Amino acid sequence: MQTLKDFDLTDYNTFGINAKAKFLVEINKEADFLELLETTEYKNNQKLFLGGGSNMLLVKDFDGLIVLNKLKGIEIIKEDEENVWVKAMGGEIWNDLVLFSVEKGFWGLENLSLVPGTVGASPVQNIGAYGSEAKDTIFEVEAIDIKNAGKKVFTNKECEFGYRDSIFKNKLKGKYFIIAVIFKLSKKQNKNVNYRALQEYLDENKLEIKSSGDVARIIAEIRESKLPNPKILGNAGSFFKNVYVDIDKLLEIELLYPDVPCFEEENRTSPLTPLLNKERGNQTIKIPTAWLIEKCGWKGKRVGNVGVHIKQSLVLVNYGGATGAEVLDLANKIIDSVDQKFGIKLTLEVNLI
Ligand code: EPU
Repeated sequence: MQTLKDFDLTDYNTFGINAKAKFLVEINKEADFLELLETTEYKNNQKLFLGGGSNMLLVKDFDGLIVLNKLKGIEIIKEDEENVWVKAMGGEIWNDLVLFSVEKGFWGLENLSLVPGTVGASPVQNIGAYGSEAKDTIFEVEAIDIKNAGKKVFTNKECEFGYRDSIFKNKLKGKYFIIAVIFKLSKKQNKNVNYRALQEYLDENKLEIKSSGDVARIIAEIRESKLPNPKILGNAGSFFKNVYVDIDKLLEIELLYPDVPCFEEENRTSPLTPLLNKERGNQTIKIPTAWLIEKCGWKGKRVGNVGVHIKQSLVLVNYGGATGAEVLDLANKIIDSVDQKFGIKLTLEVNLI
């Protein structure tokens, strides 16, 4: 295991921000992490556990140690007539896991096709797209407690999942290193094509779903048509979270904008939905943040090296050479104008580092 110094992170964050880390170390096997816990670099520095760097904004150089999860391996660990339990190591690329599962004909991960990032980050952020979230299939999360190097297995419930949220972003932030995630997938057809944009695409193109692979391919097509490829235009997917309001707030906005899109969210499979609703109280109506930003006139706007994507205003982009501070400055301007126009305070989906 090698500790690299003054490491250039440009290729390690999908925003393509040029920033450095004081130290970086790659974890290729579990023993590497246990060895790392004993090093002075580890003991004397703040740490950041990193997967694909697809959900963060580097606002300055990182004055600490970056621990890069490169643990690899995907295997079926158990099955019965209806289900299969797949264990994927934290450093696996998320989409490789999706491809593995759809090639075998399993159902459950196909709606999360082409989500960037790694398996280890999927429970932290509770990644979600097209009517599905990681929490719907995560069975267990295996992690190492950095305090005593002991292994802990979290059940789905113990992960305290919420919308783009989990215990690993809150109470246990930075306290556990995620080794592997076990997913419970279905062998029987279990399609979830209720998400409006997906349903419309299927109807318009007269497409029929025969397999989970069909869903994965179609969602990949939709994503590629809407979202910028970070290899070409730096970005971290949705920069902000969507907004949830109560009926009074919706009616207030509707008076001025009768065309406001809104969605009453329900989640088919998750046992945790009641928890989520409790958390949100009466605020269960989603108003797409992309729409709020668009109505404030930001869609497609460029300010210096940064801008708001032309096809999806939830996505901020780096046209090249942007600093994290520039991106943040644009984000703050957007937050202010949405607040002034709608009285709604946007929150970030990306993590500021
Ligand atoms: N819309 C606009 N303007 C836009 C884009 C969208 O008004 O520029 C409105 C439209 O009414 C559209 C609605 O927003 O029907 C929803 O748009 P979309 O289906 O693109 O989804 P989203 O709510 O904007 C969320 C996730 C995405 C995920 C998509 C698809 C969040 C923060 N974002 O975006 O996740 O891919 O749904 O399920 O929840 C990510 O987390 O990085 C991410 C890309």
